[in-house]
Amino acid sequence: MLPEKKLDVAVSEAVSQRLVTHLREDTTDLAEHDLFVPVADFVSPERAAAEVALLKSLPTVVAHASEIRNNGDFLTREILDMPLLIVRQTDGRAQVYLNMCRHRGGRVEQAATGNKRVFMCQYHGWSYDRDGGGLRTVPYESSFEKIERGCNSLIAFPTEERHGLVFAVLSQTPAPALADYLGDAVDEQMAPWQLDASSVVLDKTFVMDINWKLIMDGAIDIIHPRFLHPGGVGDLIESNVGVFKDYGRHCQHFGARTKLKALAKSEATVSGGSKYIGSNLVIYPNSMMIAAPEHVEFWTVWPCVGHPGRSLTHLRFLVRDAILDDALLARVNKSWEILQRAATEEDWPMERFIQQNAEAWPHGTYRYGRSEVACAHLHRQLQSDLDEAARKA
Ligand code: FES
Ligand SMILES: [Fe+2]
Repeated sequence: MLPEKKLDVAVSEAVSQRLVTHLREDTTDLAEHDLFVPVADFVSPERAAAEVALLKSLPTVVAHASEIRNNGDFLTREILDMPLLIVRQTDGRAQVYLNMCRHRGGRVEQAATGNKRVFMCQYHGWSYDRDGGGLRTVPYESSFEKIERGCNSLIAFPTEERHGLVFAVLSQTPAPALADYLGDAVDEQMAPWQLDASSVVLDKTFVMDINWKLIMDGAIDIIHPRFLHPGGVGDLIESNVGVFKDYGRHCQHFGARTKLKALAKSEATVSGGSKYIGSNLVIYPNSMMIAAPEHVEFWTVWPCVGHPGRSLTHLRFLVRDAILDDALLARVNKSWEILQRAATEEDWPMERFIQQNAEAWPHGTYRYGRSEVACAHLHRQLQSDLDEAARKA
Protein backbone atom coordinates (compact mmCIF):
# COMPACT_ATOMS: atom_id res chain seq x y z
CA MET A 1 0.00 0.00 0.00
CA LEU A 2 1.17 3.51 -0.73
CA PRO A 3 1.42 5.81 2.26
CA GLU A 4 -1.62 8.07 2.22
CA LYS A 5 0.31 11.34 2.12
CA LYS A 6 2.77 10.32 -0.56
CA LEU A 7 2.61 9.79 -4.24
CA ASP A 8 5.28 7.26 -5.02
CA VAL A 9 6.79 5.70 -8.08
CA ALA A 10 5.56 2.18 -8.50
CA VAL A 11 8.95 0.56 -8.70
CA SER A 12 8.82 -3.17 -8.51
CA GLU A 13 11.35 -4.98 -6.38
CA ALA A 14 12.71 -6.61 -9.53
CA VAL A 15 13.39 -3.24 -11.19
CA SER A 16 14.97 -1.81 -8.10
CA GLN A 17 17.22 -4.86 -7.64
CA ARG A 18 18.26 -4.75 -11.28
CA LEU A 19 19.20 -1.11 -10.89
CA VAL A 20 21.21 -1.85 -7.74
CA THR A 21 23.04 -4.65 -9.53
CA HIS A 22 23.83 -2.30 -12.42
CA LEU A 23 25.21 0.26 -9.97
CA ARG A 24 27.36 -2.34 -8.23
CA GLU A 25 28.69 -3.76 -11.47
CA ASP A 26 28.85 -0.54 -13.51
CA THR A 27 26.49 -1.96 -16.12
CA THR A 28 23.17 -0.84 -17.59
CA ASP A 29 20.33 -2.24 -19.71
CA LEU A 30 21.37 -2.41 -23.33
CA ALA A 31 19.60 -2.75 -26.65
CA GLU A 32 20.97 -5.42 -28.92
CA HIS A 33 22.33 -2.94 -31.44
CA ASP A 34 23.01 0.75 -31.97
CA LEU A 35 20.34 2.51 -33.97
CA PHE A 36 21.14 4.83 -36.86
CA VAL A 37 18.50 7.48 -37.61
CA PRO A 38 18.80 9.54 -40.81
CA VAL A 39 19.53 13.20 -40.03
CA ALA A 40 16.97 14.03 -42.73
CA ASP A 41 14.24 12.68 -40.41
CA PHE A 42 14.58 15.88 -38.37
CA VAL A 43 14.34 18.30 -41.30
CA SER A 44 12.48 16.67 -44.17
CA PRO A 45 9.04 18.21 -44.96
CA GLU A 46 7.81 14.85 -46.35
CA ARG A 47 8.87 13.00 -43.23
CA ALA A 48 7.30 15.70 -41.02
CA ALA A 49 4.01 15.49 -42.93
CA ALA A 50 3.97 11.70 -42.58
CA GLU A 51 4.57 12.03 -38.83
CA VAL A 52 1.73 14.51 -38.45
CA ALA A 53 -0.59 12.16 -40.33
CA LEU A 54 0.53 9.31 -38.07
CA LEU A 55 -0.02 11.33 -34.90
CA LYS A 56 -3.53 12.16 -36.07
CA SER A 57 -4.26 8.48 -36.54
CA LEU A 58 -3.18 7.46 -33.03
CA PRO A 59 -4.74 8.20 -29.63
CA THR A 60 -2.87 11.23 -28.28
CA VAL A 61 -3.41 13.16 -25.07
CA VAL A 62 -5.27 16.42 -25.74
CA ALA A 63 -6.24 17.41 -22.19
CA HIS A 64 -6.18 16.46 -18.54
CA ALA A 65 -9.50 15.65 -16.87
CA SER A 66 -9.17 18.50 -14.37
CA GLU A 67 -9.09 21.03 -17.19
CA ILE A 68 -12.76 20.20 -17.87
CA ARG A 69 -13.75 19.08 -14.38
CA ASN A 70 -17.53 19.73 -14.37
CA ASN A 71 -20.23 18.81 -16.83
CA GLY A 72 -20.42 21.54 -19.45
CA ASP A 73 -16.83 22.69 -18.89
CA PHE A 74 -14.99 23.23 -22.12
CA LEU A 75 -11.65 24.38 -23.41
CA THR A 76 -10.51 25.34 -26.87
CA ARG A 77 -7.03 24.39 -27.99
CA GLU A 78 -5.18 24.08 -31.29
CA ILE A 79 -3.37 20.80 -31.74
CA LEU A 80 -1.58 19.85 -34.97
CA ASP A 81 -3.16 22.97 -36.49
CA MET A 82 -6.63 21.65 -35.67
CA PRO A 83 -8.84 23.97 -33.63
CA LEU A 84 -10.40 21.71 -31.02
CA LEU A 85 -13.33 22.16 -28.70
CA ILE A 86 -12.96 19.78 -25.76
CA VAL A 87 -16.12 19.41 -23.72
CA ARG A 88 -17.31 17.52 -20.63
CA GLN A 89 -20.78 16.34 -21.68
CA THR A 90 -23.86 15.99 -19.47
CA ASP A 91 -23.13 12.29 -18.94
CA GLY A 92 -19.67 13.17 -17.62
CA ARG A 93 -17.81 11.90 -20.67
CA ALA A 94 -15.22 14.04 -22.42
CA GLN A 95 -15.77 14.70 -26.11
CA VAL A 96 -13.45 16.35 -28.60
CA TYR A 97 -14.95 18.27 -31.53
CA LEU A 98 -13.46 20.20 -34.38
CA ASN A 99 -14.18 23.82 -33.49
CA MET A 100 -15.71 24.44 -36.90
CA CYS A 101 -19.20 25.53 -37.78
CA ARG A 102 -20.89 23.41 -40.43
CA HIS A 103 -22.32 26.51 -42.12
CA ARG A 104 -19.26 28.27 -43.48
CA GLY A 105 -16.47 27.27 -41.15
CA GLY A 106 -16.51 29.80 -38.30
CA ARG A 107 -15.31 28.77 -34.86
CA VAL A 108 -18.32 27.79 -32.78
CA GLU A 109 -16.48 28.78 -29.60
CA GLN A 110 -13.90 31.51 -29.25
CA ALA A 111 -13.30 31.56 -25.48
CA ALA A 112 -10.33 29.63 -24.10
CA THR A 113 -12.42 28.02 -21.35
CA GLY A 114 -15.92 28.19 -19.91
CA ASN A 115 -19.08 26.21 -19.22
CA LYS A 116 -21.93 25.92 -21.73
CA ARG A 117 -24.86 23.77 -22.74
CA VAL A 118 -24.96 25.12 -26.28
CA PHE A 119 -22.22 26.52 -28.53
CA MET A 120 -23.26 29.25 -30.91
CA CYS A 121 -21.20 30.35 -33.87
CA GLN A 122 -20.87 34.12 -33.78
CA TYR A 123 -20.84 34.54 -37.52
CA HIS A 124 -24.50 33.76 -38.33
CA GLY A 125 -25.77 32.19 -35.13
CA TRP A 126 -25.90 28.46 -35.88
CA SER A 127 -25.87 26.60 -32.56
CA TYR A 128 -24.76 23.13 -31.47
CA ASP A 129 -25.38 20.87 -28.49
CA ARG A 130 -22.54 20.12 -26.12
CA ASP A 131 -23.79 16.51 -26.04
CA GLY A 132 -23.00 14.92 -29.39
CA GLY A 133 -22.53 18.25 -31.16
CA GLY A 134 -25.91 18.11 -32.91
CA LEU A 135 -27.04 21.17 -34.85
CA ARG A 136 -29.83 22.91 -32.92
CA THR A 137 -30.88 26.21 -34.36
CA VAL A 138 -30.31 27.86 -37.71
CA PRO A 139 -31.40 31.50 -37.92
CA TYR A 140 -33.36 32.29 -41.11
CA GLU A 141 -33.68 28.58 -41.76
CA SER A 142 -36.51 29.10 -44.21
CA SER A 143 -34.12 30.92 -46.51
CA PHE A 144 -31.96 27.80 -46.84
CA GLU A 145 -32.85 24.62 -48.68
CA LYS A 146 -33.57 21.72 -46.34
CA ILE A 147 -30.73 21.31 -43.80
CA GLU A 148 -30.32 17.68 -42.73
CA ARG A 149 -29.68 17.75 -38.99
CA GLY A 150 -28.06 14.28 -39.12
CA CYS A 151 -25.16 15.33 -41.31
CA ASN A 152 -24.57 18.81 -39.90
CA SER A 153 -23.36 18.02 -36.40
CA LEU A 154 -19.96 19.20 -35.24
CA ILE A 155 -17.21 16.88 -36.44
CA ALA A 156 -16.56 14.63 -33.45
CA PHE A 157 -13.32 12.74 -32.89
CA PRO A 158 -13.07 9.40 -31.09
CA THR A 159 -12.41 10.39 -27.47
CA GLU A 160 -11.61 8.26 -24.45
CA GLU A 161 -10.49 9.13 -20.97
CA ARG A 162 -8.17 6.93 -18.93
CA HIS A 163 -6.12 7.74 -15.84
CA GLY A 164 -7.41 11.29 -16.03
CA LEU A 165 -5.99 11.81 -19.50
CA VAL A 166 -8.27 12.73 -22.37
CA PHE A 167 -7.11 10.88 -25.48
CA ALA A 168 -8.46 11.65 -28.93
CA VAL A 169 -7.81 10.37 -32.41
CA LEU A 170 -7.72 13.51 -34.56
CA SER A 171 -8.91 11.92 -37.75
CA GLN A 172 -11.76 9.72 -38.80
CA THR A 173 -9.64 6.58 -39.00
CA PRO A 174 -10.97 3.75 -36.83
CA ALA A 175 -9.45 4.14 -33.37
CA PRO A 176 -8.01 1.27 -31.40
CA ALA A 177 -9.66 0.76 -27.98
CA LEU A 178 -7.59 2.80 -25.56
CA ALA A 179 -7.19 0.01 -23.00
CA ASP A 180 -5.67 -2.19 -25.72
CA TYR A 181 -3.57 0.63 -27.07
CA LEU A 182 -2.03 1.40 -23.67
CA GLY A 183 -1.86 -2.19 -22.46
CA ASP A 184 -1.82 -3.67 -18.97
CA ALA A 185 1.76 -2.70 -18.10
CA VAL A 186 1.11 1.00 -18.73
CA ASP A 187 -2.14 0.78 -16.75
CA GLU A 188 -0.27 -0.80 -13.88
CA GLN A 189 2.33 1.94 -13.81
CA MET A 190 -0.15 4.78 -14.04
CA ALA A 191 -2.83 3.59 -11.65
CA PRO A 192 -0.96 4.44 -8.40
CA TRP A 193 -0.46 8.04 -9.54
CA GLN A 194 -4.23 8.62 -9.39
CA LEU A 195 -4.08 11.15 -12.17
CA ASP A 196 -7.87 11.04 -12.44
CA ALA A 197 -8.01 12.60 -8.96
CA SER A 198 -5.27 15.13 -9.63
CA SER A 199 -5.08 18.74 -10.72
CA VAL A 200 -2.81 20.68 -13.01
CA VAL A 201 -0.76 22.92 -10.71
CA LEU A 202 1.65 24.21 -13.31
CA ASP A 203 0.97 24.69 -16.99
CA LYS A 204 3.58 25.95 -19.46
CA THR A 205 3.89 25.84 -23.22
CA PHE A 206 7.01 26.49 -25.26
CA VAL A 207 7.21 26.86 -29.03
CA MET A 208 10.79 26.19 -30.09
CA ASP A 209 12.67 25.80 -33.36
CA ILE A 210 13.48 22.19 -32.55
CA ASN A 211 12.05 19.04 -34.13
CA TRP A 212 9.64 17.37 -31.69
CA LYS A 213 11.64 14.13 -31.59
CA LEU A 214 14.73 15.96 -30.36
CA ILE A 215 12.72 17.34 -27.42
CA MET A 216 11.48 13.83 -26.64
CA ASP A 217 15.02 12.46 -26.93
CA GLY A 218 16.36 15.09 -24.56
CA ALA A 219 13.92 14.14 -21.81
CA ILE A 220 14.42 10.38 -22.28
CA ASP A 221 18.21 10.33 -22.76
CA ILE A 222 20.13 8.95 -19.77
CA ILE A 223 23.71 9.37 -20.86
CA HIS A 224 23.88 13.16 -20.92
CA PRO A 225 23.15 14.51 -17.40
CA ARG A 226 26.72 14.53 -16.08
CA PHE A 227 28.00 16.37 -19.15
CA LEU A 228 25.20 18.83 -19.86
CA HIS A 229 24.04 19.47 -16.30
CA PRO A 230 27.14 19.53 -14.09
CA GLY A 231 26.43 21.17 -10.75
CA GLY A 232 22.68 20.66 -11.29
CA VAL A 233 20.58 17.71 -12.40
CA GLY A 234 23.83 15.96 -13.37
CA ASP A 235 24.76 15.75 -9.68
CA LEU A 236 21.42 14.20 -8.76
CA ILE A 237 21.03 11.54 -11.44
CA GLU A 238 23.47 8.79 -12.39
CA SER A 239 24.36 8.89 -16.06
CA ASN A 240 24.38 5.76 -18.18
CA VAL A 241 22.66 3.51 -15.62
CA GLY A 242 19.11 2.42 -16.18
CA VAL A 243 16.48 -0.24 -16.37
CA PHE A 244 14.40 -0.30 -19.51
CA LYS A 245 10.90 -1.77 -19.73
CA ASP A 246 9.39 -2.42 -23.11
CA TYR A 247 5.60 -1.99 -23.10
CA GLY A 248 5.05 -2.55 -26.81
CA ARG A 249 4.66 0.88 -28.37
CA HIS A 250 5.24 2.52 -25.01
CA CYS A 251 8.16 2.12 -22.68
CA GLN A 252 9.57 3.18 -19.37
CA HIS A 253 13.00 3.97 -18.17
CA PHE A 254 14.06 3.79 -14.53
CA GLY A 255 17.15 5.74 -13.53
CA ALA A 256 19.11 5.95 -10.31
CA ARG A 257 19.47 9.01 -8.18
CA THR A 258 23.05 9.49 -7.00
CA LYS A 259 22.16 8.60 -3.41
CA LEU A 260 21.15 5.12 -4.58
CA LYS A 261 24.64 4.56 -5.93
CA ALA A 262 26.23 5.25 -2.56
CA LEU A 263 23.82 2.80 -0.94
CA ALA A 264 24.37 0.15 -3.60
CA LYS A 265 28.14 0.37 -3.26
CA SER A 266 27.87 0.04 0.51
CA GLU A 267 26.18 -3.34 0.00
CA ALA A 268 23.29 -2.20 2.19
CA THR A 269 19.89 -3.71 1.52
CA VAL A 270 18.19 -1.32 -0.83
CA SER A 271 14.56 -1.10 -1.68
CA GLY A 272 13.27 1.16 -4.41
CA GLY A 273 11.10 4.23 -4.30
CA SER A 274 11.10 7.70 -5.72
CA LYS A 275 13.67 8.79 -3.16
CA TYR A 276 16.20 6.69 -5.02
CA ILE A 277 14.73 5.99 -8.41
CA GLY A 278 13.34 8.24 -11.11
CA SER A 279 11.22 7.03 -13.98
CA ASN A 280 10.03 8.26 -17.33
CA LEU A 281 7.01 6.53 -18.84
CA VAL A 282 6.78 7.27 -22.54
CA ILE A 283 3.20 7.13 -23.78
CA TYR A 284 3.83 6.68 -27.46
CA PRO A 285 4.12 8.72 -29.55
CA ASN A 286 4.48 12.12 -27.90
CA SER A 287 3.70 12.11 -24.18
CA MET A 288 5.87 11.38 -21.17
CA MET A 289 5.12 11.03 -17.50
CA ILE A 290 8.10 11.70 -15.26
CA ALA A 291 7.27 10.67 -11.70
CA ALA A 292 8.54 12.61 -8.70
CA PRO A 293 7.74 11.86 -5.05
CA GLU A 294 4.80 14.24 -4.91
CA HIS A 295 3.91 15.09 -8.46
CA VAL A 296 4.01 13.85 -12.02
CA GLU A 297 5.64 15.91 -14.75
CA PHE A 298 3.46 15.44 -17.76
CA TRP A 299 5.03 16.33 -21.11
CA THR A 300 3.35 16.40 -24.50
CA VAL A 301 5.39 17.46 -27.52
CA TRP A 302 3.59 18.41 -30.75
CA PRO A 303 5.21 18.93 -34.14
CA CYS A 304 4.18 22.25 -35.71
CA VAL A 305 2.49 21.49 -39.00
CA GLY A 306 4.48 22.65 -42.03
CA HIS A 307 7.62 23.32 -39.96
CA PRO A 308 9.76 20.19 -39.53
CA GLY A 309 12.12 22.17 -37.33
CA ARG A 310 9.52 23.54 -34.92
CA SER A 311 7.49 22.06 -32.09
CA LEU A 312 5.30 22.94 -29.14
CA THR A 313 6.13 21.48 -25.75
CA HIS A 314 3.25 21.41 -23.29
CA LEU A 315 4.41 20.82 -19.74
CA ARG A 316 1.97 20.24 -16.92
CA PHE A 317 2.65 19.24 -13.34
CA LEU A 318 -0.06 17.07 -11.82
CA VAL A 319 -0.66 16.69 -8.10
CA ARG A 320 -3.18 14.45 -6.34
CA ASP A 321 -5.97 16.58 -4.89
CA ALA A 322 -5.80 14.59 -1.63
CA ILE A 323 -2.30 15.81 -0.82
CA LEU A 324 -2.37 19.26 -2.40
CA ASP A 325 -1.66 22.10 0.01
CA ASP A 326 0.37 25.33 0.01
CA ALA A 327 3.53 23.71 1.33
CA LEU A 328 3.41 21.06 -1.37
CA LEU A 329 2.76 23.71 -3.98
CA ALA A 330 5.88 25.56 -2.85
CA ARG A 331 7.93 22.35 -3.19
CA VAL A 332 6.51 21.68 -6.64
CA ASN A 333 7.41 25.21 -7.72
CA LYS A 334 10.95 24.65 -6.46
CA SER A 335 11.09 21.52 -8.55
CA TRP A 336 9.91 23.53 -11.57
CA GLU A 337 12.72 26.04 -11.02
CA ILE A 338 15.27 23.21 -11.18
CA LEU A 339 13.69 21.70 -14.28
CA GLN A 340 13.30 25.10 -15.91
CA ARG A 341 16.98 25.86 -15.45
CA ALA A 342 18.08 22.51 -16.86
CA ALA A 343 15.61 22.65 -19.76
CA THR A 344 15.81 26.27 -20.85
CA GLU A 345 19.51 26.85 -20.19
CA GLU A 346 20.97 23.47 -21.07
CA ASP A 347 18.75 20.85 -22.76
CA TRP A 348 16.81 23.00 -25.21
CA PRO A 349 19.77 25.15 -26.34
CA MET A 350 21.67 21.89 -27.07
CA GLU A 351 18.66 20.52 -28.97
CA ARG A 352 18.49 23.79 -30.91
CA PHE A 353 22.15 23.29 -31.92
CA ILE A 354 21.31 19.77 -33.09
CA GLN A 355 18.41 21.13 -35.14
CA GLN A 356 20.61 23.81 -36.69
CA ASN A 357 23.24 21.20 -37.50
CA ALA A 358 20.65 18.88 -39.01
CA GLU A 359 19.46 21.73 -41.23
CA ALA A 360 23.02 22.69 -42.17
CA TRP A 361 24.03 19.11 -42.92
CA PRO A 362 21.02 16.86 -43.47
CA HIS A 363 23.15 13.93 -44.58
CA GLY A 364 24.18 10.72 -42.91
CA THR A 365 22.81 9.46 -39.63
CA TYR A 366 22.72 10.14 -35.92
CA ARG A 367 23.65 7.20 -33.71
CA TYR A 368 21.73 5.97 -30.67
CA GLY A 369 23.98 3.71 -28.62
CA ARG A 370 22.90 0.47 -26.98
CA SER A 371 22.33 2.16 -23.61
CA GLU A 372 20.19 4.85 -25.27
CA VAL A 373 17.61 2.13 -25.46
CA ALA A 374 14.51 4.19 -24.59
CA CYS A 375 15.26 6.87 -27.20
CA ALA A 376 15.93 4.16 -29.77
CA HIS A 377 12.67 2.42 -28.87
CA LEU A 378 10.70 5.55 -29.76
CA HIS A 379 12.49 6.00 -33.08
CA ARG A 380 12.17 2.32 -34.00
CA GLN A 381 8.45 2.29 -33.23
CA LEU A 382 7.89 5.49 -35.16
CA GLN A 383 9.73 4.13 -38.19
CA SER A 384 7.80 0.89 -38.03
CA ASP A 385 4.44 2.72 -37.87
CA LEU A 386 5.42 5.07 -40.71
CA ASP A 387 6.50 2.10 -42.84
CA GLU A 388 3.18 0.42 -42.11
CA ALA A 389 1.23 3.59 -43.00
CA ALA A 390 3.20 3.92 -46.25
CA ARG A 391 2.43 0.29 -47.15
CA LYS A 392 -1.29 0.90 -46.61
CA ALA A 393 -1.35 4.14 -48.60
S1 FES B 1 -20.17 30.17 -40.23
FE1 FES B 1 -21.08 29.63 -38.41
S2 FES B 1 -23.08 30.40 -38.55
FE2 FES B 1 -22.17 30.88 -40.45
FE1 LIG C 1 18.79 17.08 -19.72
